[in-house]
Amino acid sequence: MSKEAKERWSKMYKDGIIPKVKVDEIVKKYADLAQGKQALDIACGWGNNTRYLAKMDFKVEALDISSIVINSLQNIENIEAKEVDLDGYTLKENSYDLIVMTYFLGREFLPQLHKALKPNGIVIIRHWVEDPENDKKFEGATNLFAHKELISTFEESFKLLHNSTEKGILYNKQKMICESIVVQKSNI
Ligand SMILES: C[S@@+](CC[C@H](N)C(=O)[O-])C[C@H]1O[C@@H](n2cnc3c(N)ncnc32)[C@H](O)[C@@H]1O
Repeated sequence: MSKEAKERWSKMYKDGIIPKVKVDEIVKKYADLAQGKQALDIACGWGNNTRYLAKMDFKVEALDISSIVINSLQNIENIEAKEVDLDGYTLKENSYDLIVMTYFLGREFLPQLHKALKPNGIVIIRHWVEDPENDKKFEGATNLFAHKELISTFEESFKLLHNSTEKGILYNKQKMICESIVVQKSNI
């Protein structure tokens, strides 16, 4: 999958299909709750959230498979951007005060987040979810989180700080339901 993902995403970035969007409001609102300044942006894309966090004095590790976006994040204060294939990637343990994952179906990371966080660490996730109101019906659930998947992931060992859904618009103009969740690691 990874070679295909790398080529597909690099082409979309090169062709200008993926806009350099604004920082996510949810990141702006909740990043401050982190008690330290080590942050991870999983599948950072152009780095809208990474750049914001770096300006807020977080030391941000930004990971993505596309060399185009990773190159665009080099030599910026507080940012360590790395080209990595996140398929099969293992997060470092006890390393982050804040983990952000927006518009990336990092299902394999959900069980790793607790260990990757430092005490009281914060997770912010925003992604499309299965919903009858979605314009597009993806085959299976491979591109979407399932209904209640995120909230049930964090039922134990995390404190829920925020959970909401709203209508959003994909790059191809299709309307989809987007879920945001913010949790804090409970130190148990
Ligand atoms: C929709 S973009 C989201 C970017 C960013 N998080 C945002 O909110 O704007 C999804 C990102 O996932 C990255 N990606 C997809 N598959 C990947 C993989 N296997 N390893 C690393 N990054 C991957 C793509 O290159 C792309 O930048």
